[in-house]
Amino acid sequence: MGLSVVILAAGKGTRMKSSLPKVLHPIAGLPMVQRIINTVEQIGADSVNLVYGHGGDLLQQQITGSNLTWCLQAEQLGTGHAVQQAADNINDEDDVLVLVGDAPLIKPSTLKRLLAAKQNADLALLTVQLDDPTGMGRIIRDGDNITAIVEHKDATEQQREITEINTGMMVIPGADLKRWLSGLQNNNAQGEYYLTDVIAMAANEGKQIRAAHPEKPFEVEGVNNRVQLSALERAFQLEQAEHAMLAGATVADPARFDVRGELSVGSDVVIDINFVAVGKVTLGDNVRIGANCVLIDCDIADGAVIEANSIIEQASVGPNCTVGPFARLRPGANMLDGSKVGNFVEMKKTTLGKGAKANHLTYLGDTEVGENANIGAGTITCNYDGVNKSKTVIGSGAFIGSNSSLVAPVTIGEGATVGAGSVITKSVEQHQLSVARGKQRNIDGWERPTKR
Ligand code: UD1
Ligand code: CA
Repeated sequence: MGLSVVILAAGKGTRMKSSLPKVLHPIAGLPMVQRIINTVEQIGADSVNLVYGHGGDLLQQQITGSNLTWCLQAEQLGTGHAVQQAADNINDEDDVLVLVGDAPLIKPSTLKRLLAAKQNADLALLTVQLDDPTGMGRIIRDGDNITAIVEHKDATEQQREITEINTGMMVIPGADLKRWLSGLQNNNAQGEYYLTDVIAMAANEGKQIRAAHPEKPFEVEGVNNRVQLSALERAFQLEQAEHAMLAGATVADPARFDVRGELSVGSDVVIDINFVAVGKVTLGDNVRIGANCVLIDCDIADGAVIEANSIIEQASVGPNCTVGPFARLRPGANMLDGSKVGNFVEMKKTTLGKGAKANHLTYLGDTEVGENANIGAGTITCNYDGVNKSKTVIGSGAFIGSNSSLVAPVTIGEGATVGAGSVITKSVEQHQLSVARGKQRNIDGWERPTKR
């Protein structure tokens, strides 16, 4: 017996006021429906059927999954009709897990509990209690057994008092589901083929229908507009901030903390406000991150300090390094132990050796900097001639005077010194001093121009 998943995502999402299909709107950087597909992969589904109606091309460009089947529901005639679009792909022996495409934060653990509830019954529904159940399908019970779901618009005054509601997520045996779906009618308040009508059909056949519940309410909350989208984004981010805190990070303000990917933190990490982590970001022990830092796919080793307003992308920062404030490490920047990058310094495809420093206003691209070298303020590696990129090598212990241009390809030897303001076009040997600038002339009796 396998598990088939059907994700209902054909609704138009009119209230998003967007040209983007609703289920492609991201939560924490990932389209809602992709999040659901990833979650489903964690519980080991044998097949995943995505029922879509709008923006099929965009969806197929942006969404991926293993064992994913695309099922077009050309007209949205209701949730029952939507599930029917996947019926051909459902084996009779399979259990069918129905999910809704606009409730992106469902957890694998909750789905496992729902599947476990099905083990002791014929069907299982994920339900919750809501203070305000307006608009939702109400759960009708006879003790532990569920006997029907009544949609709000079809419910009596008395049924509307019920606060236990249908989240839209349920597990139903494949053969029964297909049989019940083919018997659905649309003689209800909305003129739709309701999936929820299947429940009364099952109960009439004496089936046992049990409920399971989510750990957190936001797992089953849907997104119909951008206010709800942002509420779920914040709920999700708060939970991620909690994970970081429980793993040993002090988070200055969990409301100003955003992880769009995977963050791992060591112990005694301190993260100031407006932190954004994208992709895979690793922070070692005792790392300190100043306010307003953006970290994208990067590795920050133990004891490193990232000062405020720094941006680090596809780069690695070694132990006890300091970066910023206002630094930018671009792809391929690699800082070795104890090296320092200060304000308004940009590095790309550059290794900064142990203990080396570039403290102010510098661009280092396609460069290797040796141990303990000092790169003066305003140093620029001229790595691009308009067509090709070339390399600069700066030996260990070298000292580059302020405001120098190093025209690549060029090598500055170990312990060499470059005088301030030099334009270096030829390599400098070890321990040489190189000065390459106009000579200073002091002119006596200089008369300033006068106003004409
Ligand atoms: C549905 C349930 C209701 C439940 C609520 C939870 C039915 C009849 N009602 O109501 O009991 O409390 O969800 O949010 O099932 N969809 C399609 N094709 C369609 C219609 C809907 O794919 O023809 C998809 C939507 O994109 C959405 C999901 O099914 O992802 C639910 O549809 P929606 O219109 O939001 O259902 P509700 O009326 O809210
Ligand atoms: Ca809904």
